[in-house]
Amino acid sequence: MPAISAYASSKLILLGEHAVVYGEPAIAIPFFGLKMRAMIEPLIGSPSGTIHIFAPSLGLNHDLQNLSEDNLVAKSIILTLASLGIVQNPTCKISIFADVPLSSGLGGSAAIAIVIMRALSAFLGHPLKQDMLNHLAFQTETLMHGTPSGIDNTVIVYEKPIYFVKGKEVEFITPAGPFTFLVADSGVKKSTASTVQQVANNRQTDSDYYNTLIRQIGDCSRRGKSALEEGNAVSLGEVLNEDQSLLEQMNLSCPELDNLINHAKQAGALGAKLTGGGKGGHMLTLVEESDIENVRSALWEAGATQVYQAKLSASEKHA
Ligand code: PMV
Repeated sequence: MPAISAYASSKLILLGEHAVVYGEPAIAIPFFGLKMRAMIEPLIGSPSGTIHIFAPSLGLNHDLQNLSEDNLVAKSIILTLASLGIVQNPTCKISIFADVPLSSGLGGSAAIAIVIMRALSAFLGHPLKQDMLNHLAFQTETLMHGTPSGIDNTVIVYEKPIYFVKGKEVEFITPAGPFTFLVADSGVKKSTASTVQQVANNRQTDSDYYNTLIRQIGDCSRRGKSALEEGNAVSLGEVLNEDQSLLEQMNLSCPELDNLINHAKQAGALGAKLTGGGKGGHMLTLVEESDIENVRSALWEAGATQVYQAKLSASEKHA
């Protein structure tokens, strides 16, 4: 079997994170600026059926049999083999290289699962179809986050902007862009499972307040979809700001994110908000072409540990 390589993009949630867990719509786009990559090659000289995993950024240099079944990498391999009906493990080495930081709101766990599933199924000569890949990656997301909405795995599998409602067929959006976003890392790591749990707990103790905020976030996604389809950057910027204010009221921001968001707005951004699980991780900001460099400098000055650029264009092609 020849060596195979594959990649999976990361993703940006433009609007609707957390509310999407409770049935409200959310909008996400794939982000090709940061990717997970995997390479699979035959393993010569090892006992038959050995799958060796080399993933330096995950701290892994192990055979599959030495990983617990609920390890994300192990689970992704096991689910792929089971879905293809393979009972005898192939003898191979899986190397995983991660540009996408984990626990930072960019869909890192879904991207790891998807890149492994893509590479392994292709290595075995039966590349998984997108629907099956999405179904399997939802299972690994459940293992990682407990009650995922499924938005991360869906946008990363289909690699198109999506308007997503949990449990419903995915709707693809064609933005009448171009829209340019800068994406900045706050440097604070926070697991999505913990912020999802925080919202669940708070919603239980203060259900009217939280349900109202959740519905209002859903409304931001509905209006954001129209703004994207109309190519209206000013209106999209306003909705991003409104969503951020609702997320702050849900206690999902943090001083580092607030600082980045405020600096971006002061430097002329049309809108700015956290993206993903919150309480750390990344923020995104919508900028007009003429303000890109001002806002980029403001983000670095405000303590961003990384700044990336993402463009969403009318043709759906973006980077
Ligand atoms: O932090 P991320 O990249 O895993 O995004 C989480 C998005 C949430 O809406 C907070 C959770 C979910 O399952 O949709």
